[in-house]
Amino acid sequence: MINDSSAPIGIFDSGVGGLTIAKAIKNYMPYERLIYFGDTLHFPYGDKSREILEKYSLDISRFLIKEGCKAIVIACNSASSNTFLSLKEAFGDKIPVLNVIDPVVSYISEKNYTKIGLIATRATIKSQVYEKVIKNNRPEVQLCSLATPLLAPMVEEGFVNDKISTAVLRYYLNQETLYGIEALLLGCTHYPIIFEEIDRFYNGKIDIIQAPDLLAKKLHSTLKEEKCLANTNILTEDIFYASALTETFNHNAKLFFSSKIFLKEHHLKF
Ligand code: DGL
Repeated sequence: MINDSSAPIGIFDSGVGGLTIAKAIKNYMPYERLIYFGDTLHFPYGDKSREILEKYSLDISRFLIKEGCKAIVIACNSASSNTFLSLKEAFGDKIPVLNVIDPVVSYISEKNYTKIGLIATRATIKSQVYEKVIKNNRPEVQLCSLATPLLAPMVEEGFVNDKISTAVLRYYLNQETLYGIEALLLGCTHYPIIFEEIDRFYNGKIDIIQAPDLLAKKLHSTLKEEKCLANTNILTEDIFYASALTETFNHNAKLFFSSKIFLKEHHLKF
């Protein structure tokens, strides 16, 4: 294991969604240095096959390890649900590899929900990972899954808090599949960006479950166990890579992390 506490944490997603995870990590562990990779060139991940996602995720992880990262966070549900086991097998003996699904499932297993809705990309829904792990922990819970493929592209393109996002959300959240749920699980890291709109749709009456803070806590305990938590403020900046530097990525990264962030375009040989 790499136990250099000053090494950065590697985080990746298909685009801006993983920034919700990166932000939560930074808030919870301000001394940690981040290297973020947004694979904007291949966005969206939600319509890709397991084989393709595996290839992208392995290549990005190799790059992050080469950059000296001490842990890898798969800040994407589509990649977590389809590639976590392969990444763990490939790199798990070198560094901790975390997915965004386990912390959410642990959270749910402590609650008394009987009917939970899940909205996510097609790749995540098709993998049935949430069904499998939730059934293992809480067999009595009914999970009502709905693929919502327009949401991530909508957020990635910056349609948030406007007429378009309201109409698209209303269309999805009114589907019969979601009737009578007590909680809604946001199974895509792009969705916390539209958390308030979703909460407003339900008038704050159901729990909206999202990964960022839960993942940050899990990462903290993992790094603590590995004795590689950063404990002093290192004066090196976080780095944000994108495989294609889009306007939205630029805008969102700056919005999330103030204007002082360091953005770079980086092409991997896929
Ligand atoms: N943010 C990602 C997820 O959690 C991917 C969305 C996409 O690229 O389709 O699934």
